Amino acid sequence: MNQGPLIFLGALLALAASWCGMVVVPNVQIGRQQQVAAGPSNSRYPAIPSGEAQRGRDVYRAQGCFYCHTTNVRQSGAKFDVVLASAGTNKAALASGLRAARPGLTPAEVSQIMEQAPKPVLQGLTRAEAETALKHLTVPDAKAEIILVPTGPDIERGWGRRMSVAQDYLFDQPLMLSKQRIGPDLTTIAARQRDPSWHLLHLYNPQSKVNGSTMPPYRFLFEKRKIGRHPSPDALQLTGEDAVEPGYEVVPTERARALVAYLLSMDAQFGLFEAPLPVEPKRPDATTNQPSATAPTNAAPTNR
Ligand code: HEC
Repeated sequence: MNQGPLIFLGALLALAASWCGMVVVPNVQIGRQQQVAAGPSNSRYPAIPSGEAQRGRDVYRAQGCFYCHTTNVRQSGAKFDVVLASAGTNKAALASGLRAARPGLTPAEVSQIMEQAPKPVLQGLTRAEAETALKHLTVPDAKAEIILVPTGPDIERGWGRRMSVAQDYLFDQPLMLSKQRIGPDLTTIAARQRDPSWHLLHLYNPQSKVNGSTMPPYRFLFEKRKIGRHPSPDALQLTGEDAVEPGYEVVPTERARALVAYLLSMDAQFGLFEAPLPVEPKRPDATTNQPSATAPTNAAPTNR
């Protein structure tokens, strides 16, 4: 019995199905993504990296930084907070609603929450629990909201406030997600450390900035030279063991500066449709569009 054609067809079908699943479907879903409006000022996200940051990405790749650093924040779930956005005027009804939503509140705590709105009433709930609590707080004139808070070990470590999604990597060419975490994730390093001179000193000698750091020093990205008529403005402020003899200075090379520009362009902190960020409720009675002092500062991606 000749079953050759059948086996051939079977193999073809299996390969075609996996090609559809792994190539065609993802391409249809995310293949034509573009910049989106995000953040409080609705700027385009992700921002097109500056030329220097793009050169810095090449240095990052050439030096193999990605062997130790990932750029991929994972999120394992989300919790929900119930926040009283404004207390309104119906204080008695709201007070009983608050006590129903959170039994055990003392009268002092109830009036404190009402006075300090917007203020969280309950935190770390499941969606169903949050919705039940919200029902108690549905009092005419008052305003309560449910806020989604991303959770997961990476977020608890402070590596980002939400998970990374395809949109974040729109201009990352080539993509250096990486898979080993000998050092921290760098997705939002610019939000954690904005100071370019910190980055330069850390690259020159990681131990001088972080006690016991196991990151290798990248001194070859710097140049030691005789001080000319004036010291260079970007010379490293080296102290202790790193200090160079008088008359000399250590300056970052073009590669080190580009690398730091790349690091400072990494701050994916905008909430996206597919990966929202907790949004603090606005005071409904606010008369201006100014962000409130308590709102999270979603600084624009820096391209320095
Ligand atoms: C052998 C592994 C290794 C390599 C390669 C490596 N790092 Fe690191 N890196 C670490 C470790 C470990 C830490 C944590 C200790 C510290 O902050 O120095 C770290 C920390 C950092 C931090 C601070 C992170 C934070 O959250 O404070 C930055 C920025 C950084 N590395 C950038 C780089 C860059 C840029 C390169 C490539 C030039 C690089 N690293 C290469 C291991 C590595």
